[in-house]
Amino acid sequence: MVSPLCISLCAIFTCHFFTSKAAELPFDTHYTPLWGGDHVSVIDQRTQVQIKIDPRSGGGFRSKQPYGSGFFQMSVKIPSNAKGIATTFYLTSTPDNIQMRESNSNHDELDFEFILNEKGRYVLNTNVFAQDSGNREQQFNLWFDPSSQFHNYQILWNQHQIVFYIDRIPIRVFKNEIAIGARYPSTPMYVHASLWNGSQWLGPVNWRSGPFYANYRGFAINGCDYSNSNPNKCNSLRYPWNAQNNWQLDPHQQMVYQATRNKYIIYDYCKSDRSSNFPECRVPS
Ligand SMILES: *[C@@H]1O[C@H](CO)[C@@H](O)[C@H](O)[C@H]1NC(C)=O
Repeated sequence: MVSPLCISLCAIFTCHFFTSKAAELPFDTHYTPLWGGDHVSVIDQRTQVQIKIDPRSGGGFRSKQPYGSGFFQMSVKIPSNAKGIATTFYLTSTPDNIQMRESNSNHDELDFEFILNEKGRYVLNTNVFAQDSGNREQQFNLWFDPSSQFHNYQILWNQHQIVFYIDRIPIRVFKNEIAIGARYPSTPMYVHASLWNGSQWLGPVNWRSGPFYANYRGFAINGCDYSNSNPNKCNSLRYPWNAQNNWQLDPHQQMVYQATRNKYIIYDYCKSDRSSNFPECRVPS
């Protein structure tokens, strides 16, 4: 069966690297639990992961391999009403836990982070780290409740651009502006997901209404498995996500991108008083 998802992805990418069948790959094919022990459960014939968070622990998993380019995706259902808790899907070159991530600001990272705001609505925080401490946040309201069903979150990463998508709608583009002095993520990254106590950042958790659960599925990875022997192979144009039609949004995508941002963006580091630290902010997006 060809799903609507595949039809529309095929409009963006060539078909042979994404089929609805591949989306049902068992978790263990490319991923492994990382932390949280029994708080990370592989269920539904190993095609779904449920992470639980309670006062004892949250949990996380990551890909077995790092990748040097790709079109990464994950279907995620955020826990209901989980104030103070961060639900994440991200790529990072630091293959380890939160503590390490916080103290090591010298890495590449691309983040989707779902957080509940003061009004009890989920907002999406995105961030880009490029051999530094990030601070390139863009935040969005959502046009749906991400805790009521699965939605698909995607990251395209090639030598020309990084694109964050929600259900195939591009919401953020980070172009490679190295030529004007900007930084660009270029070291191999693992694919991660986690559910963690974000109290320090997001305010207290009401543990009495827990435990909280996040669900993940869609464990296919369309990425270049990084090999130390020849890292440049991940830039090969033979990978569909590196092909020229993925160097920039096409006119239709650009239109959808602008319209979506106009309506839903609530914070943009390029509009903050720190924007002069970031050369990429001089280029209109
Ligand atoms: C959650 O994080 C906060 C802030 O770091 C900490 O004070 C609290 O003890 C943590 N709660 C649990 C149950 O780990």
